Amino acid sequence: MPSRVKMRCLTSAKRFRRKIFPVLLVFCAASVLLHSQNYFSWTMEAFHLRCPTLHSLKPKHTNIVFLKTHKTASSTMQNILFRFAERNNLTLALPKPSCGYLFCYPQFFSSHFVHPDTLPPNMISSHMRFNKTALQRLMPNDTIYITILREPASMFESLFTYFTVYSEAFKRVPKGSLEAFIADPLRYYRPNEGNSMFAHNTLTFDLGGNKDRPATDVTYAQTFAAEVEKVFSLVMISEYFDESLVLLRHLLSWDLDDIVYLKLNVRTESSKKSLSPGLPGKIRAWNSIDAYLYDYFNASLWVKLSALGLDCVAKEVYLLRQAQERLTKRCFGKQIPLSRSASEIKNKDLRPWLPSNMVQIAGYDLPTNITNEVKEFCLKYIMPEVQYTQKLLQSQLVKRHQSSQI
Ligand SMILES: *[C@@H]1O[C@H](CO)[C@@H](O)[C@H](O)[C@H]1NC(C)=O
Ligand SMILES: *[C@@H]1O[C@H](CO)[C@@H](O)[C@H](O)[C@H]1NC(C)=O
Ligand SMILES: *[C@@H]1O[C@H](CO)[C@@H](O)[C@H](O)[C@H]1NC(C)=O
Ligand SMILES: *[C@@H]1O[C@H](CO)[C@@H](O)[C@H](O)[C@H]1NC(C)=O
Ligand SMILES: *[C@@H]1O[C@H](CO)[C@@H](O)[C@H](O)[C@H]1NC(C)=O
Repeated sequence: MPSRVKMRCLTSAKRFRRKIFPVLLVFCAASVLLHSQNYFSWTMEAFHLRCPTLHSLKPKHTNIVFLKTHKTASSTMQNILFRFAERNNLTLALPKPSCGYLFCYPQFFSSHFVHPDTLPPNMISSHMRFNKTALQRLMPNDTIYITILREPASMFESLFTYFTVYSEAFKRVPKGSLEAFIADPLRYYRPNEGNSMFAHNTLTFDLGGNKDRPATDVTYAQTFAAEVEKVFSLVMISEYFDESLVLLRHLLSWDLDDIVYLKLNVRTESSKKSLSPGLPGKIRAWNSIDAYLYDYFNASLWVKLSALGLDCVAKEVYLLRQAQERLTKRCFGKQIPLSRSASEIKNKDLRPWLPSNMVQIAGYDLPTNITNEVKEFCLKYIMPEVQYTQKLLQSQLVKRHQSSQI
C-alpha cells in the first residue's frame, strides 16, 4: 500500500476547512487508487459500479487444460498461459523431446508423451489430439478446460495456405487452388493418409471427434457438441478474441493484467487471400461438423457475454486495448508497423516457425535502443511457441534439479 501518499493526504486534510474536505477526500481516494495500481495502471474511469471489479478478490485459478487448435489464434492464447505459468511458478506439462514441441500430434494424447520432469502439472497447452480420459488422469481434479474455435471458412483458407506442403490432399490440387479443391474435395482427399486432418473438419479432429462422419449425420454433430460442452467450461471464439478473454478472466478469477497480449503467428497481409463469393458456403458444407460446432459455441459465447453484461464486457475490452497500446509503446517505441516477415527478423529467438517458404508469418523484432530489463520483459510477449517451449522446459529442468539437491 502506498502509505506515504495516504499519510500526506490525511495530514493535509486536517488543515483544510470542512467545505474543501469532500473534494479533497475524493482526490485522496483517487490518488491512493492510482498509486496502488500495478504496471498497467487500470483506470476506473468508464466503469459502472455494477460491473465486476478489475482485480479479482478470489484466488486465481491455476489448473488449466487449454486444447490448442490449429490456425485459430491459439498461439496467442498459449503465450498468455505460458507467461502466467512463469509469473506464478506453475508447472506446465510439456512434450518430451521425441514428440517435438507438440504431444505427438496427430496421435491421441497420452501421458507417455509428457516430459517426466514436467509432472505433476498445473497446466497443459501444447498441440494435442484431445483424450479426455488421459487428461483427467493426469491433471488435478479441479482443472478447468478451455479451447478456441474459428469461423470455418476463413480457418480453412488459412489451413489450406499454411499446410500446402504438409497435406497430401492439398498437394494434389492443381496450381494450389482452393476453389479447385472445394469444388470436388473427394477427388483429392483420402481420409486415412497422414495429415489428412488438415483437410477435413480439423477442429472436430483436434477435439477428439470423427472428422469423417458424413454431413447428413446431423445427430453426430449435435451429440459431439454436447459432449464438448460438458467438458469445456469455455469455448473461445477467434473472431471475438478479446471478448472471449474477458470471459476467461472471469472464469479463472484473473486480473485484467493477466490477459494482456500482443498478436503472434499472424500471416502477413500479402499471403492472405480473400474468398470469392459462394466459397464460404462450400467450405462450410465440406467441414459441416466444424461449422456446426462453430455456430453452436458462438451462440453460447454470446449468451455468456450477455449474462456478464455487454456494456461491462465492452468496457473491459476497451481497457484491455488501452493496456496493449501502452505495452506496444513501451516495447517498440513509436515504430509502427512493428510486425515483419520471419526472414527479416534478426533475433533468432524471435523467428516464428514456418511450414514452408510459401507462407509469410509475421513476427516481431525488438528495437535495439531499449534497456535489457525492458527487452527481457517484452521478449516474453513476442517469443514464438517453439522457442518459448524450449525455454520453459529448460527453466523447469533447472528448478527440478535445484530442488532435488536441497
Ligand atoms: C516464484 O519463485 C521465485 C523464486 O523461487 C520467487 O522469488 C517468487 O516470489 C515466486 N513467485 C510466486 C508468485 O510465487
Ligand atoms: C485415451 O487415454 C486412455 C487412458 O490413457 C486410454 O486408455 C485410451 O485408449 C485413449 N483413447 C484413445 C482413443 O487413444
Ligand atoms: C480433489 O483432490 C483433492 C486432493 O487430491 C481431494 O481432497 C478432493 O476431495 C478431490 N475433490 C474431488 C471433487 O474429487
Ligand atoms: C456469432 O453470434 C452472434 C450472436 O448470435 C452473431 O451476431 C454473429 O454474427 C455470429 N458470428 C459469426 C461469425 O457467425
Ligand atoms: C528507439 O528509437 C526509435 C527511433 O529513433 C524511437 O522512435 C523510439 O521511441 C526509441 N525507443 C525507445 C524505447 O527509446
